[in-house]
Amino acid sequence: MTQRLALVTGGAGGIGTAICRQLAADGRRIVTTCVDPEAEGIEAWVEMMRGEGIDADWVKCDVSDHAACVAMADEVRERFGGVDILVNVAGITSDGFLHKMSADAWDKVIDINLSGVFNVTHQFVAGMRDQGFGRVVNISSVNGQTGQFGQTNYSAAKAGMHGFTMALAKEGAAKGVTANTVSPGYVKTSMTDAMPDKVRDAIVAQIPAGDMGQPADIARAVGFLTADEAGYINGANLPVNGALFCSF
Ligand code: CAA
Repeated sequence: MTQRLALVTGGAGGIGTAICRQLAADGRRIVTTCVDPEAEGIEAWVEMMRGEGIDADWVKCDVSDHAACVAMADEVRERFGGVDILVNVAGITSDGFLHKMSADAWDKVIDINLSGVFNVTHQFVAGMRDQGFGRVVNISSVNGQTGQFGQTNYSAAKAGMHGFTMALAKEGAAKGVTANTVSPGYVKTSMTDAMPDKVRDAIVAQIPAGDMGQPADIARAVGFLTADEAGYINGANLPVNGALFCSF
């Protein structure tokens, strides 16, 4: 069987890098997107991955821009072939209480975190259906399940991802295409580093596991959901949060 191609948006970030490592270990060929190659140090990232024996490449794409996603998808298909596995990781925070939030902070988070999932997935689902195989995993957040202080924008986007995923799961189920979400809790990344220390410490104190998670904890869930054998796991949300929020 030919090697499956995995496209990971925002793959050079903390959680994204761990996902790329996991998928490579699972035998996938890796392509990531990046918005600003210089600012994100994408060439150094590729070198790092290749140093680890991982065949990784990148394409430029702002996921909030639908036209850019169309061009990116054409480039991916031309350079690497059809996408078998899509992991939507690209996301930002722009935290602030709603009464202080600018319309711009709302739009940016919705455009990247939620519309970005549509813009990218829209490019690849037809190909997945045609080939009778596809795995879409959307990286949501515990804060999409519970809401969080200062995150009306982020919580709305991350909750919206679940609706998108469940609808897509129903559409793809008879065609071998699955869609699932993974909802990380608090994970050691630059995103949680940017939180006010006082707030982060208070949240960590409430995590039954006793500490934040590691990016590899999230990657493990993505590897599970993207396996060829995972075809009947569809429309699910897999929380990975150290028991911070338990539900069924
Ligand atoms: N729980 C309880 N109280 C909180 C709180 C929280 N999570 N966040 C803020 N507050 C309280 C503060 O303690 C403070 O109380 P007092 O007035 O009694 O001191 C009050 O709300 C106002 O807080 P600030 O002084 O910080 O107000 P601000 O306007 O400067 O900032 C804020 C508000 C933007 C919410 C800021 O506190 C903040 O950035 N909080 C962190 C938000 C957060 O959890 N982001 C998660 C980022 S990580 C992520 O998103 C990844 C993921 O998926 C899990």
